[in-house]
Amino acid sequence: MKIETLSVHAGRKPDKSTGAVTPPIHLSTTYERDASGEYPKGFVYSRASNPNRESLEDCLMQLEGGKSAAAFSSGSAAAMSIFQALSSGDHIIASDDLYHGTRNLIKLFQKWNVSSSFVDMTNVKNVENAITKKTKLIWIETPTNPLLKIVDINKISSLVKKKKIKIACDNTWATPILQSPLELGADLSLHATTKYIGGHSDVLGGAVISNSDDEFFQKIKEIQKAGGAVPSPFECWLVLRGIQTLPLRIRAQSDSAMQIAEFLRSHPKVEKVYYPGLPSHPGHDVASTQMKKFGGMISFQVKGKMKDAMRVASKVKIFVRATSLGGPESLIEHRASVEGPDTKTPQNLLRMSIGLEHPDDLINDLSNALR
Ligand SMILES: Cc1ncc(COP(=O)(O)O)c(C=O)c1O
Repeated sequence: MKIETLSVHAGRKPDKSTGAVTPPIHLSTTYERDASGEYPKGFVYSRASNPNRESLEDCLMQLEGGKSAAAFSSGSAAAMSIFQALSSGDHIIASDDLYHGTRNLIKLFQKWNVSSSFVDMTNVKNVENAITKKTKLIWIETPTNPLLKIVDINKISSLVKKKKIKIACDNTWATPILQSPLELGADLSLHATTKYIGGHSDVLGGAVISNSDDEFFQKIKEIQKAGGAVPSPFECWLVLRGIQTLPLRIRAQSDSAMQIAEFLRSHPKVEKVYYPGLPSHPGHDVASTQMKKFGGMISFQVKGKMKDAMRVASKVKIFVRATSLGGPESLIEHRASVEGPDTKTPQNLLRMSIGLEHPDDLINDLSNALR
């Protein structure tokens, strides 16, 4: 089945007891045993599994073309389960530009003797040079947050084919609609479902989808069950609902982002635009082969300093000044101030999540703000 059809139907079927087409939300935390002490329906306790989470995991597994999936209470909880599945003494290689929360999480694991190297993954040689005998995980994010660097998933996967190194790819910005990391050779695909997958800025969530039900993924499932960083049934229901319109949303957002990136590229007040859809972007060729469209995220540097970028953000009328991404409303933010004092993100950079408004209105809004 095509991904549009899967997005509507995967993980969902009419409720057997009532015929309800939209799945019910099962709030029960516990499930009844039969007289012999068995659990005939397979559910025991909601932290371990529940019908809404099972539906969501099934749907995400099908969208990513994986063998198994585990849903979490946030994208960060999903990422943490992968780091927790490593052992003391292991080494992680991650991109030098990546979601700052993930970078902080990786650094947190130094306490448990999990070391890390952050390299520019746009050059595969840098990854090759960083591999040591202890390397057990390569963490790809593509496009990266916030500089939209493009990492060649297939090349990096080929590099470690015969080694016992897991490749995880944070696919949050591309979504399963635009990019399929497992098909490109990654072992694990990660999502902050908080973003495009949920799609309405009203639910936090995360997921890990695996290309095998191997020992490493069993550890992730064990961490999910024992650690309990799980989404509630209602949150699973909301995310599953969001997925039904994901293909339409992400395509519209990508098309608008392309137009807005082109407008900004030729604007005299703009120093630099970061959008992989622009042929001038250094990752454009790789993005064109591994992505179906280029996504809804754009960063740009305003000519001048931080105050000049802040002034642009202060003048927008349709864009909302807020962090996060992937919702129907366009967001704009001064990224460096969110990331904190150690950030390498340029101080005159603004990051935008393009929503579902008409692109002409968004371009007018930016044009007025840049004036
Ligand atoms: C690429 C990426 N991965 C992971 C996360 C973390 O997601 P959450 O906020 O749901 O923990 C974010 C959040 O912005 C993100 O942009």
